[in-house]
Amino acid sequence: MATEKRKEEHLDIALKESVSFRHVATGLEKVQLQYNCLPDISLEDVDTSAEFLGKKFNAPLMVSAITGGTERAKKINRDIAKACQKLGIGMGLGSQRAMLEKPELKDTYYVRDVAPDIFLAGNMGATQLRDFSVEKIEKALSEVGADALAIHLNAAQEAVQPDGTPDFRGAFEKIAELSKKLKKPVYVKEVGHGIGWITARKLAKTNIRAIDVQGAGGTSWIGIDSLRGNRELGETFWDFGIPTAVSIFECRQEFKGKIIASGGIRSGLDIIKGIILGADLGGIALPVLKAQAEGGEKGVEEYLEKIIREIKVGMFLLNARTIEDLKRKKK
Ligand SMILES: Cc1cc2nc3c(=O)[nH]c(=O)nc-3n(C[C@H](O)[C@H](O)[C@H](O)COP(=O)(O)O)c2cc1C
Repeated sequence: MATEKRKEEHLDIALKESVSFRHVATGLEKVQLQYNCLPDISLEDVDTSAEFLGKKFNAPLMVSAITGGTERAKKINRDIAKACQKLGIGMGLGSQRAMLEKPELKDTYYVRDVAPDIFLAGNMGATQLRDFSVEKIEKALSEVGADALAIHLNAAQEAVQPDGTPDFRGAFEKIAELSKKLKKPVYVKEVGHGIGWITARKLAKTNIRAIDVQGAGGTSWIGIDSLRGNRELGETFWDFGIPTAVSIFECRQEFKGKIIASGGIRSGLDIIKGIILGADLGGIALPVLKAQAEGGEKGVEEYLEKIIREIKVGMFLLNARTIEDLKRKKK
């Protein structure tokens, strides 16, 4: 089936090719932090716990949407979910389109038996929403035990994807409708090319609860999908988008709900910078997939533990005992 084949290709290309932005960085590298060499707390006092859409996290971190829909995806999802459960952080499932088209694929997304407590986001593309009723989407979320629905807004990816749907007519209205009618909270995410103030201002008129910025500077989805076909378009648009730091800042100006710093987040320090710019937590995708490919559940756990340790050390060096203290720090 086309969706399953595409999923396999995405995993292979993401793992084997160079798919990062080439000349554009997240902008987080330019954020200067006010190092405090005389903090009045001890490292062990630092409390990294955070809250997101009603769930408590041990650290302001989630694994962004990656996969689902194939046997290989099932193992990836389960390894990631087990590590997230152990560490007390959140996880996003990959697009549930495959299971909506083919219900027997449900178990390739199902992780609640190994991760009963984590914040778990379901996922759908904005262009696919019009194909499914509110009831059908509600059912797909409850079948995997999701706490929320993340809708990906990916015009750039769709425009370059050989089998894409570059047609967003009615997508905003459908997001607005779902944000009112679904029992679970709805939030939106990009896939690595960023959400700017124009979109954030529009989305602020709906009932969505969060924006996961997925800005430019990390994995280029124009890059990945252009390697499946439209290479010339890919060369021109590879680095297209709004860098993560800018995206966080612009969304914070326009939107009162939660914000996730994501797209090219590669350290706990990046997450700290994102929070100081206005985010509530951070999200990481490709490095987690690579850690899983190299070391399975243990590999994911070790990688995420390192990120959490970096958040803790960074907070200590800024004299921030809690995430709320961090949010009060000046840029
Ligand atoms: C192999 C792979 C598959 C992905 N599939 C999805 C998806 O199904 N839905 C979605 O919203 N985002 C998907 N993403 C995008 C990520 O959630 C994230 O937005 C993007 O990779 C940028 O983050 P990064 O720089 O940390 O990788 C996928 C990412 C990877 C690496």
